[in-house]
Amino acid sequence: MSPALLTMEDVEVAFTVGGKSYPALHHITLEIQKNEVLGIVGESGCGKSLTALSIMGLQPEAAQMTRGQFFLGGTSLAGLSEEAWQDIRGKRVSMIFQDPMTALNPLIPVGRQIAETLKTHTNLSKKEARQLTLEMMRKVGLSRVEQLYDEYPHRLSGGMRQRVMIAMALVCKPQLLIADEPTTALDVTIQAQILDLLRGLNRETDTAILFISHDLGVIREMCDRVIVMYAGYIVEEAPAEEIITKPQHPYTKGLLHSLPDISKRGQPLYTIPGRVPPLHERKGGCPFAGRCGHVLPECTSVVPELGEVAVNHKVRCHLYTQQN
Ligand SMILES: Nc1ncnc2c1ncn2[C@@H]1O[C@H](COP(=O)(O)OP(=O)(O)O)[C@@H](O)[C@H]1O
Ligand SMILES: [Mg+2]
Repeated sequence: MSPALLTMEDVEVAFTVGGKSYPALHHITLEIQKNEVLGIVGESGCGKSLTALSIMGLQPEAAQMTRGQFFLGGTSLAGLSEEAWQDIRGKRVSMIFQDPMTALNPLIPVGRQIAETLKTHTNLSKKEARQLTLEMMRKVGLSRVEQLYDEYPHRLSGGMRQRVMIAMALVCKPQLLIADEPTTALDVTIQAQILDLLRGLNRETDTAILFISHDLGVIREMCDRVIVMYAGYIVEEAPAEEIITKPQHPYTKGLLHSLPDISKRGQPLYTIPGRVPPLHERKGGCPFAGRCGHVLPECTSVVPELGEVAVNHKVRCHLYTQQN
């Protein structure tokens, strides 16, 4: 079998604050296959963005990888120079964010920004770069692209800006697109269009997508396989269908239970009691123990292993390790 497109092996990332180390990612092991859409879901503060940024070599300065390894197409990404990273970013792996304005330069017309990305990574002439840019802009569903090419980002709607960012991310045909909450800031109808667009591009172009969202409803629509993260740990991993029909971890069940359901119209929406603890309040044991309704004595002292409960279905929970 050919190696996975991206492999993370037992990665740990910690923040150093005031000389003390606070781990924010623990034992992150994952693989993304060519052409796959892998979802990461979890509430805010669970480490989804930090996972994504680490893959891009863009984690905050205070954060350090303290353990583990990354491989892109079988090649280790350890100790790469900034120059080597720049060659990978945009060309082999690219990323889109919740707020397109963080990635777009407000002072440069949008078409030129896409063309610049192409010129950085290819030897295309100015004319060829413009042609390819216009083609890509059409592909992501933008219209009147000749005029739009010379518009500044602030003249575009949120949905159009997100399309521009997707065009910029995909124009060099990366093998992997990381989409970190790409539709969270958009209206529901625009959100649905952008999700359709990403799904379509994945089918047409073989680009694998790492799709990150706090919304299990969106993840269910988009992904082939899902990783559930809680407080820096992977707590469950399964094909998307199975996460929805047979969730095992109490946290996943809670997320599922909090989804709006048309048959429960009029009833208040369920929310998981409590909150994700900030880094400095995290204790030993199962990260979810403080909010879980099924706590066993060992849950507060021993971190459960991520164990297989069915084929391709893993859970990090003492309720399951007990049965084995
Ligand atoms: N620059 C930073 N300094 C200190 N802690 C941070 C920083 N960025 C993120 N964190 C902490 O790391 C954890 C994971 O954050 P993040 O990956 O952004 O979560 P998510 O994307 O799932 O909302 C959180 O507890 C967050 O508070
Ligand atoms: Mg985030």
